[in-house]
Amino acid sequence: MATQPITGATLHFIEKGAGQPLVLLHGFPLDLRMWTAQIDDLSSRWRVIAPDFRGFGRSPISGSFTVPSLAEDIHEFLQSIGALPCVLAGLSMGGYVAMNYARQFAAELRGLILVDTKDAADNADQRENRNRMIEVVRSKGSPAIADLMLGKLLAPDTVSHRPEQVKTLRDIMEACPALTIEHALAALRDRPDMTDELPKIAMATLIIVGEADAITPVAVAEAMHKRIAGSQLAIIPGAGHMSPMEQPSLVNRAMRQFLNPPAMASGGAAS
Ligand code: MLT
Repeated sequence: MATQPITGATLHFIEKGAGQPLVLLHGFPLDLRMWTAQIDDLSSRWRVIAPDFRGFGRSPISGSFTVPSLAEDIHEFLQSIGALPCVLAGLSMGGYVAMNYARQFAAELRGLILVDTKDAADNADQRENRNRMIEVVRSKGSPAIADLMLGKLLAPDTVSHRPEQVKTLRDIMEACPALTIEHALAALRDRPDMTDELPKIAMATLIIVGEADAITPVAVAEAMHKRIAGSQLAIIPGAGHMSPMEQPSLVNRAMRQFLNPPAMASGGAAS
């Protein structure tokens, strides 16, 4: 098991392959196992690095955090393991962290991959729902959060026909410590709005979205695509919010097409 100490925490991570660093940031309430298919496939050409955020997966709990502080964690972690500059990919919560990373540390990024995520902060109803979920996780634990979220994370087709996917996702969510879920819900509720930041992104950017994503729908991805000049958009058929798990080969192909141009492989960032 690979671990890296950073200020006030220790991060568990997986690293596979050699070449330019590609960093994969997981969603909520998940861990790096959601990227298994990408780690296995993309490591044939890239140095793929997938950390567990503090408190998630096999990274120990180490106090509360915010979305910008998670970006600082990842920056310190990547500096410590000598993985900068990198291409940074994040799903949903991982995408929020990636956008905050781009705002703080753009010079150390070769590119950005925003997967099933959104730029807007929570509105009043969503913030209230986070507070209700904090009560649920305090009183009933992680399985109750898995019950609330599972149906929304996957495309209806995945839920009906791929029980092994449903089970894998449920297992990951149920393994997430209740205290981490509580910390994360507060961080998600209070995260900064990134809408006005997107037009400032001047690096190569790929936006990926499952065509049946019920949490961050295609219309949201299309709006982000318009706000980031020169960005690419890949809509993944047969996938919901968890497109990298639901349609791994299509997501891997979209990532490879984005990553493979010579400008990216040799270190330059296309715009
Ligand atoms: C995620 O997949 O990371 C979450 O759905 C993000 C969120 O709840 O905003």
